[in-house]
Amino acid sequence: MQKRKRKPTNSQPAADAVVEEEPCLRQTAPLQLRYYGDPVLRKKAEPVAEITDVELQLAEKMLITMYATGNGIGLAATQVGVLKRFLIVDISEVADEEYEPVMLFNPEILSAEGEAVAEEGCLSIPNVTADVKRPEKVVIEGINVESEQVRIEADGLLARALQHEIDHLNGVLFIDRLSGLKRQLLAGKLRQIQLAERPGGNR
Ligand code: NI
Repeated sequence: MQKRKRKPTNSQPAADAVVEEEPCLRQTAPLQLRYYGDPVLRKKAEPVAEITDVELQLAEKMLITMYATGNGIGLAATQVGVLKRFLIVDISEVADEEYEPVMLFNPEILSAEGEAVAEEGCLSIPNVTADVKRPEKVVIEGINVESEQVRIEADGLLARALQHEIDHLNGVLFIDRLSGLKRQLLAGKLRQIQLAERPGGNR
């Protein structure tokens, strides 16, 4: 998911510059984001059986990838082409209260209540935003990077971001939650994203 108010987009990955000076940081370069139209975004991710160094590296790389966008507040592994049930959410820059970044493996929604409508965007669907109706409060369980089972009671933006990322792990995009008419209005923009030429190809 992405912030509502965008920072100027000149905050593109400064990673190249860093890599030149410090070759050892090469491994922390941002991962390639997958965009609308990429079939991987429609696949269901698999639960993670054990959190090993591979998963921890994925977590670190996803954080770097999300922060490099300059406007990301959440990212699911699916969005970097990894079909593992893992998400990160960091709303600390846009929230009034203090929040720690959430990094969760195998997240499950235990309960949901209420209803709220708010604008969403997605790093995989650039320049498209829409109001989405979701439960207002959720209780989510998952496993953190220390391999501990944790439970998060969330409302507001945190609840929304967590649900948005869990949707990704099930191959669901926020535009799927819009009415047919609203989606039709976005069809042109979505088509543009599908047809956009990107470094590394469109997969
Ligand atoms: Ni998204």
